[in-house]
Amino acid sequence: MQQTTNKILVTGGAGYIGSHTVVALVEQGFDVVVLDNFSNSQPESISRIEQITGVKLDVVNADVRDEIALQRVFELHQFDAVIHFAGLKAVGESVDQPLRYYHNNVQGALQLLRVMGDGNCKKIVFSSSATVYGDPSSVPITESFALNATNPYGHSKLMVETLLRDISSSDADWQVSILRYFNPVSAHSSGLIGEDPNGIPNNLMPYISQVAVGRLACLSIYGDDYDTVDGTGVRDYIHVADLASAHIKALQALAPGHGCQAYNIGTGRGYSVLEMVKAFEAASGQTIKYKIAPRRIGDIASCYADTSKSARELGWTAEHDLNGMMQDLWHWQSNNPNGYS
Ligand code: NAD
Ligand code: UD1
Repeated sequence: MQQTTNKILVTGGAGYIGSHTVVALVEQGFDVVVLDNFSNSQPESISRIEQITGVKLDVVNADVRDEIALQRVFELHQFDAVIHFAGLKAVGESVDQPLRYYHNNVQGALQLLRVMGDGNCKKIVFSSSATVYGDPSSVPITESFALNATNPYGHSKLMVETLLRDISSSDADWQVSILRYFNPVSAHSSGLIGEDPNGIPNNLMPYISQVAVGRLACLSIYGDDYDTVDGTGVRDYIHVADLASAHIKALQALAPGHGCQAYNIGTGRGYSVLEMVKAFEAASGQTIKYKIAPRRIGDIASCYADTSKSARELGWTAEHDLNGMMQDLWHWQSNNPNGYS
């Protein structure tokens, strides 16, 4: 018999990827509870989700590491599954504050899994990252490539992946999908929700869009001497709306016997930094001032996904093209030059 998964706990649902996924879940008729401590998001994102969907959200302001709060949520609701986004994600910060990262990301997952197990909710979709492949031996990257993180953030993701594999080996009732995101970009087509990083963005696309609205003066392109199409770094950028739909497909694919599976979530196509700058300029009509700077420590030349496993097993592929990504990003950034504030 086909299992149905209806009531979903979304940890980190106020954040960038979480908010887009909550919109998709609500639109697909799922009953959603968001748990977030708002350490890296704004309550305004919740109001915007409600504006888009027309549905009042059930939001719990709590930390996933707070056992009592988590137990209370599981007493109040009988969840069919959890999507676990809550975590810290800045690579550089994780190098400076490793304990904070391990505590938040690893202890948070441990706490959540314990309470889920006690509440007999054993289906989870977990946010991992292409960073777990480190510097891959070749591209495109398949899920069976060696796992080799190079910083505390990446290690914390690998630790949680290991935890998930171990619990699913110990108890066949666990149904686990690990989604390894490549480079999430862009925003909801409404222009109401999008990425709103704290401080100066580390990632390419929010940096470019903040140059476009005049918040930042000039993009530094980190290296133009890589072995790539034009010397600049190549990545697999994926529209956040495609990422959101991957979570729905991942939930729907959870079934008895699933065990623990990892999936690459990307487009399967890489673009260089200069190609991204040009595509943004074409979609926005803005000129992006840039200069070539030295390589950023820890960066790799090329990273893009082999997405055949997610296509085959989840029935999911990315649908938005580069121009669509850029248009939606510009719609969000030009309507919200200062993000949610
Ligand atoms: P985000 O920071 O926008 O969202 C994370 C949300 O989790 C925020 O709302 C934050 O307040 C909340 N949170 C953090 N720690 C918490 C805790 N202990 N308890 C409760 N809430 C907590 O990040 P995002 O870009 O939406 O990323 C979501 C997930 O995807 C993260 O786990 C991240 O590591 C992973 N990921 C992100 C990217 C990316 O480029 N954005 C790439 C790969 C993987
Ligand atoms: C970063 C994270 C990685 C995470 C991924 C997706 C680091 C070291 N890695 O990877 O863990 O999984 O985001 O969110 O932070 N670039 C510039 N100028 C900039 C910013 C970036 O030239 O101001 C270049 C980079 O050198 C790279 C490309 O743009 O070639 C993409 O960079 P970024 O958006 O930071 O993503 P990743 O480095 O792939």
